[in-house]
Amino acid sequence: MSQHLLLLLVILAISPIPGDSQDSALSPTPEEPEDLDCGRPEPSARIVGGSDAQPGSWPWQVSLQQSGGHICGGSLVAPSWVLSAAHCFVKNGTLEPATEWSVLLGVRSQDGLLDGAHVRAVAAILVPDNYSSVELGADLALLRLASPAQLGPAVRPVCLPRASHRFAHGAACWATGWGDIQEAEHLPLPWVLQEVELRLLGEDACQCLYSRPGPFNLTFQLLPGMLCAGYPGGRRDTCQGDSGGPLVCEEGGRWFQAGITSFGFGCGRRNRPGVFTAVAPYEAWIREQVIGSEPGPAFPTQSWEPQSGPWEPRDENCTIALPECGKAPRPETWPWEAQVMVPGSRPCHGALVSESWVLAPASCFLDPINSDGPPRDRDNWRVLLPSRPRAELVARLVLHENASWDDASDLALLQLRAPVNLSTAPRPVCLPHPEHYFLPRSRCRLALWGRGEPAPGPNSRLEAELLSGWWCHCLYGRQGASVPPPGDAPHALCPAYQEEEEAGRCWNYSHRSLLCQEEGTWFLAGISDLSSGCLRPRVFHPLQTHGPWISHVTGGAYLEDQLNWDWGPEGEETETRTCPPHTEHGACGLRPEPAVMGVLWPWLAEVHVAGDRVCTGILVAPGWVLAATHCVLRPGSTTVPYVEVYLGRAGDSPLPQGHQVTSAPPLLCLTKRRSWVLTGMALPGSRELFAAIGPEEAWISQTVGEAHFLPPSGYPHWPPEGSDLCPPDMASAPGSPQAAVFLLLLTPLMQG
Ligand SMILES: *[C@@H]1O[C@H](CO)[C@@H](O)[C@H](O)[C@H]1NC(C)=O
Ligand SMILES: *[C@@H]1O[C@H](CO)[C@@H](O)[C@H](O)[C@H]1NC(C)=O
Ligand SMILES: *[C@@H]1O[C@H](CO)[C@@H](O)[C@H](O)[C@H]1NC(C)=O
Ligand SMILES: *[C@@H]1O[C@H](CO)[C@@H](O)[C@H](O)[C@H]1NC(C)=O
Ligand SMILES: *[C@@H]1O[C@H](CO)[C@@H](O)[C@H](O)[C@H]1NC(C)=O
Ligand SMILES: *[C@@H]1O[C@H](CO)[C@@H](O)[C@H](O)[C@H]1NC(C)=O
Ligand SMILES: *[C@@H]1O[C@H](CO)[C@@H](O)[C@H](O)[C@H]1NC(C)=O
Repeated sequence: MSQHLLLLLVILAISPIPGDSQDSALSPTPEEPEDLDCGRPEPSARIVGGSDAQPGSWPWQVSLQQSGGHICGGSLVAPSWVLSAAHCFVKNGTLEPATEWSVLLGVRSQDGLLDGAHVRAVAAILVPDNYSSVELGADLALLRLASPAQLGPAVRPVCLPRASHRFAHGAACWATGWGDIQEAEHLPLPWVLQEVELRLLGEDACQCLYSRPGPFNLTFQLLPGMLCAGYPGGRRDTCQGDSGGPLVCEEGGRWFQAGITSFGFGCGRRNRPGVFTAVAPYEAWIREQVIGSEPGPAFPTQSWEPQSGPWEPRDENCTIALPECGKAPRPETWPWEAQVMVPGSRPCHGALVSESWVLAPASCFLDPINSDGPPRDRDNWRVLLPSRPRAELVARLVLHENASWDDASDLALLQLRAPVNLSTAPRPVCLPHPEHYFLPRSRCRLALWGRGEPAPGPNSRLEAELLSGWWCHCLYGRQGASVPPPGDAPHALCPAYQEEEEAGRCWNYSHRSLLCQEEGTWFLAGISDLSSGCLRPRVFHPLQTHGPWISHVTGGAYLEDQLNWDWGPEGEETETRTCPPHTEHGACGLRPEPAVMGVLWPWLAEVHVAGDRVCTGILVAPGWVLAATHCVLRPGSTTVPYVEVYLGRAGDSPLPQGHQVTSAPPLLCLTKRRSWVLTGMALPGSRELFAAIGPEEAWISQTVGEAHFLPPSGYPHWPPEGSDLCPPDMASAPGSPQAAVFLLLLTPLMQG
């Protein structure tokens, strides 16, 4: 069982309600004779930590149905009364008619009625006047049944706590329901009632967790009348469809209903325990509604005297759970790196995603000729994990259903015969939830994936930086296509990285995975798209959309919320945007083509950097050459190396021994007056993606007094569709990468 209302993207701006309505002492209730026995199920075994409830364990649990379908849970509190949550019945500020609802009593699984099971119509639904929405509290409702329920072993009421009742913090209580077993995963047939043990969290401990920003910098202020139950580490929780159901605690041989399942932030997420409506503060309201109904709900006295004084231990430790996944001692020493050895093939690289499961490309295991054929020899497969003395055996292979035709779904999960003990290594990598948003400029690395080859060249450190979602989406998207906003799964992830040119070739058709870091925790963010070939930026298929499938198969992979939500000063990424024209196939519709022999570009310069690099420079004034910073300076270095500039050679002479061409071609566009204008500089590692020069105008003209800039009227002329030139709306579009350029002051060199 896991939760109910996904409020992740709801902006919750709530101020605490002043005053302490919760603890306002009710006038002491005189001891009443208990005419209704409550909270005592037939003795039965219960699976601790398991999930299927034994028949008769929770005889007060009811299913609230509309048109024969389960919508919410509820609890029988008296023969004619069911307690549930207000949000089940209030839609768009209006209470739904009672006649639309029916109550199913005495059922354990919903596929067939057992002994004692019966249905009742609803005569009235009562909701507190001041209920408005779940996050503002008072989320409870009473349903009056059209005729009393038939009490018996399978149908019995639960006890309600008095306003003065105190449940001990840390108490082990139970939540029950037919809700989803994971986010977006319904309880499978035959819908056996699920139970989960949850610990009551004190208000301070719970508020402490909810004060820590979650995904999208979301925090939440708990209000009086709410209570929390669950675990800081998550994983056990209520989920969608459990709403209205009871949270019950055993005291002195009776079960008291401490809470009503109300809402949560996702299901079972770390530091986001479930939020329940506390029942005790509503004693007066409940009594008021049931006046005159015999027998009414039972409010037995608490069997032990709660301590006097402030109940809440104020010094309660604020224990934040940290991610268990994604910690690597050093980048590239990946503790989740798994190699699947299939006899007769090269090793296939994958990633450990839980104690028992490895994620790898399905293409490693599909027979290329007969892709429908079952993979053979699984007994002989071995999985090598870091720091494990012996190879693991494989118990099961689960291929993604779309693996054979969809590159984005080229995924398989392998179950190990025995779970491994997680420690520093092996340790699983974190996986992103579907709404995870990797911020532009996130620091990432490329890692081996599938049968990919190791990086060419010793200098390839495979560091990468994510380009903005807008940029990436539009490069491979359509004109006018709208860009998925943060919180929607992206269609693609584009890392900018520098490696391939240095080795003089591109790793075409070589699989890579993209690992991105947030707050020191690594996520498996994407897998490479084979179809983009050598075109850059290389596109990675985001793994976000596969989270639900992976959790479904593994039943416990490490899906983590976003840990970093600092959009930077612009915050521009939060806007919805559409793609400008001419963005398909790279910013300018260019693919690399060899220059026509004999064409001389008189402003081109060869910039030879001490050591081993040659890149393109542009003569912008008699004494000045413009070059890309990444060509001249090494990442992280501020010392300018020894540089030589050759003019008038246009790349047709042989390079000095040991020098290699670093990609930094300029983008030139033709104006109406037939003059060429420098419009962009290639981004690191790219031949097709350019950063606009325009924004650097002030800096260039300040540094180089005599550089020529076109007057606004002389703005480059853009030939119609189909041409290879860069459209102006790209060059000036917000969110375009900024050019990083470097000006070299030329000093004449003596040459032999
Ligand atoms: C919700 O209520 C408002 C006004 O009360 C109405 O305009 C709107 O159409 C309603 N929406 C739905 C989905 O019923
Ligand atoms: C609703 O009203 C009751 C009684 O006036 C009060 O105790 C409770 O705090 C209120 N709840 C909310 C959410 O305003
Ligand atoms: C928090 O927990 C630690 C270890 O259990 C304990 O030593 C410390 O006193 C606690 N602090 C508070 C404020 O309770
Ligand atoms: C497989 O593809 C179909 C059609 O595109 C889609 O509806 C389905 O959700 C995919 N399956 C998974 C597990 O993603
Ligand atoms: C896993 O770790 C626990 C505790 O450290 C240990 O008792 C157990 O034997 C280990 N299991 C394996 C399979 O190594
Ligand atoms: C891709 O790799 C194949 C074989 O390794 C090679 O023949 C081909 O030229 C490469 N293509 C590019 C664009 O590098
Ligand atoms: C997160 O939200 C808090 C308050 O809601 C705000 O002060 C803070 O600046 C936000 N942080 C970021 C990175 O947006």
